[in-house]
Amino acid sequence: DAGGDGPAALAALCAGVCTADRSAARRRAMADLPDVHDEAALRSALAEESAGSGAGSDAHAEAESRRMALALAAWRASDNRKTAALRAQRERLPSWGFRDAVVAAIEGSQVVVVSGETGCGKTTQVPQFLLDAATDAGRGGRIELICTQPRRISATSVAQRVAAERGEALGETVGYQIRMEARRSAATRLLFCTTGVLLRRLIGDPLLAGTTHVLVDEVHERSLDSDFLLVLLKELLAQRRDLKLVLMSATVNEAAFSGYFSNCPTLQIPGFTFPVKELYLEDVLQATRWTPDRGCDCLRSGGGGGSSKGAAAGEAARVAQQAAAEHAGLEALRARGGYGEPMLRAMRALDPEKLNYELAAAALRWVAAQRDGGAVLVFMSGLMEITKLYELCLQDSTIKAATRQGEWLIALHSSLSSAEQQTVFERPPDGVRKIVIATNIAETSITIDDVTWVVDLGRHKETRYSPQSHMQLLVEDWCSRASARQRRGRAGRVAPGTCLRLYPRWLHDGVMDEHQVPEVRRVPLEGLALHVKLLRPHAPVAAFLAAMMEPPPHEAVTAALNALTTIGAVVRGREALTPLGVHLAALPVDVRVGKMLVHAAILGCLDPILTVAAAISSRSPFVSPLERREAADVAKRSFAREQSDHLAVLAAYQDWREARADGRAAERAFCTDSFLSVRALEGIADLRRQFQQLLAEAGFLGGGRGRGRGCGWEAADAHAENMRLVKAVLVAGLYPNVARVDGAGGAGDGKKPKLITRTADGKSEEAVQIHPCSVNFATARFNSRYLVYHEKVQTSQVWLRDCTAVGALPLLLFGGEVSRQAAAGTVSIDGWLKLDCPLKVAVLLAELRARLDGLLQAKI
Ligand code: CDP
Ligand code: MG
Repeated sequence: DAGGDGPAALAALCAGVCTADRSAARRRAMADLPDVHDEAALRSALAEESAGSGAGSDAHAEAESRRMALALAAWRASDNRKTAALRAQRERLPSWGFRDAVVAAIEGSQVVVVSGETGCGKTTQVPQFLLDAATDAGRGGRIELICTQPRRISATSVAQRVAAERGEALGETVGYQIRMEARRSAATRLLFCTTGVLLRRLIGDPLLAGTTHVLVDEVHERSLDSDFLLVLLKELLAQRRDLKLVLMSATVNEAAFSGYFSNCPTLQIPGFTFPVKELYLEDVLQATRWTPDRGCDCLRSGGGGGSSKGAAAGEAARVAQQAAAEHAGLEALRARGGYGEPMLRAMRALDPEKLNYELAAAALRWVAAQRDGGAVLVFMSGLMEITKLYELCLQDSTIKAATRQGEWLIALHSSLSSAEQQTVFERPPDGVRKIVIATNIAETSITIDDVTWVVDLGRHKETRYSPQSHMQLLVEDWCSRASARQRRGRAGRVAPGTCLRLYPRWLHDGVMDEHQVPEVRRVPLEGLALHVKLLRPHAPVAAFLAAMMEPPPHEAVTAALNALTTIGAVVRGREALTPLGVHLAALPVDVRVGKMLVHAAILGCLDPILTVAAAISSRSPFVSPLERREAADVAKRSFAREQSDHLAVLAAYQDWREARADGRAAERAFCTDSFLSVRALEGIADLRRQFQQLLAEAGFLGGGRGRGRGCGWEAADAHAENMRLVKAVLVAGLYPNVARVDGAGGAGDGKKPKLITRTADGKSEEAVQIHPCSVNFATARFNSRYLVYHEKVQTSQVWLRDCTAVGALPLLLFGGEVSRQAAAGTVSIDGWLKLDCPLKVAVLLAELRARLDGLLQAKI
């Protein structure tokens, strides 16, 4: 019997291997065990052990512990080349020397913060230290670690790496779980998952039964999910004194986390990086001698640029336009001012899409021609941007040749296969250059060792609150200086490196923020409030959120609750979820978009609504160059349907899909003629897919698990062609954004209709205009008395941008609280919109509303 005398002997065996203590006493204690240096003997003992286990829970844990101890010993004894190489790599990491300290710190305190430079071995090693310490103590079978990751791709790639380091297949001791996908088994002791997965697990399993350690990784990113998780865990720690919490952070503001957990101990792992030289745009332009070849064109179409930092962008645009007026394009500017500031400012004001790619490609071409062989890491702002640059690089002969026909040119994103993901970490053969194009996932979550060049566009995407639409929007902007520092540091892991910053120094110093604002301060809080209600039905949301590391402002919480009440997710006067609220809490999208999607799924018009919902969550696909504005307006109006901007986007999207099916050339011609941006349309297509996936996961699509089966739900697209229904669903999503059409102008009275909305505080009314970019701008007579809109923008006047004419019935059905007026035959909605409504109709509508609520209720 290889196991010898049970746990004690096993513990001795493992302790012996672990500390490499070869004392005679220890050798005697292990006399009847397999030689700890003999992998074959250990493996055969392991096989016997596995065959024998499986009984009741305690015995099972014992057997599991023995199995794990043997497996660990076998791994340590293994002389397999790959295993040995990985073992040696681990031992070289700065964190390796701290393994006892890490284990001791966590032994001695319920909460510990572990901080260290990116790449020092927090994510991959700290969980293993804990796992191995427990295994060596004969408790391997009784431990269960969960390690959260901010992104799907880090959860999967780290799990894969850790399994490989342990010489195991993924899904055995080490597994992962992300939305819609998991690799884990009963033997899994260390689970990497996204923060969202753990948050959802807490809904059904608030005590995290069975889990012994929670490790929250990348806490410094201060995502809403991770900040929220910390509140929940803080509460849970009081209830489960045996649960350990480890917060892992890059060296950014780590003291704040210790403070949040009653000054818990912080363990700092010192890192080492080589110096990295930084070049700004001005230096890069000098070095590469590159100028945009379509300078003049670009200059003329120069708008506000990609920066939402209003002042800087505005100024840059002015400078650019002035320059364009005075000189014939960039060449003239260059001749006059060299690569000085005016030139740089002018460049930033150009069409940033086009410019950024060409600039990045030029920088890569230059790097590819340098003599050294280091890998290159490029930071782009998102998946689409990555893909676009990737395609551009493949068309570039220099870059293509340098990366061996593009074989070592890698676009790093979450839909890469595991095999492709692995190439990212491999070393290319001599003379071949590895170029990895990534988003900020490569900033701290993923470390690619051999990088010596970083090309940084300084851009990132973040979610923000849009006061125009009261929605959250994904906005591209300059990243923070802290991010820029992190990105630069990625070039100095193995040797001195160089960081090409493709933005000017003044922008770095004067425009970029020092730190990114925590997400809780930037985004609307409706989703968070719903989640709180789901977890703590009886706790007031404001009181709960006051316990966050950075409590959101009180007004923001109140605004969120009011908005939730208005859209019908929270019961009026009580902080309780309605059935709709319960569903929305399960859909991680803006609540208005979620409401629209849920209604579309119930009413059977999902396909068109997916497009509309994606479109209102993205930037408009219609482009309108200054000098061709009229032609662009005509093109846009050709898509108009039923006095609706939303249906116009839908029509444009559908025509684009058809043109695309006819090939690249047809697509390009169609988009040019119709003034449509392919990139924006692709973004909409991408978001559509994501929404669809989320709905499927929440059980809203046919055949979904659990929810709604046999509840009489329509097939998702039974009524996809019914535009009146689509409009009604739009009302469900956009309410309370309603304008009343006053004096709709009898036919031909020549007067423009007057539009009235409620002010933001809901207390009074204001007159609004339809924005010239709307297909309804010139509409003289609306065929119904109301418009729903997406955004209200205040400049010298108040404008409605995208709007759709809708009738009274959808408003009565989906638009807020209906009350009978004193005068017979009228009803009002939310005490504002007054509609004529015969009693019979009112009764019928009330019944329909009740049936709809019933459907929602049935699906919970
Ligand atoms: O979390 P932290 O940034 O401290 O480091 P880590 O993610 O644990 O990575 C430690 C080291 O593991 C890296 O420097 C890489 O050498 C290696 N690693 C790898 O080769 N492949 C991976 N998928 C992950 C990490
Ligand atoms: Mg990490």
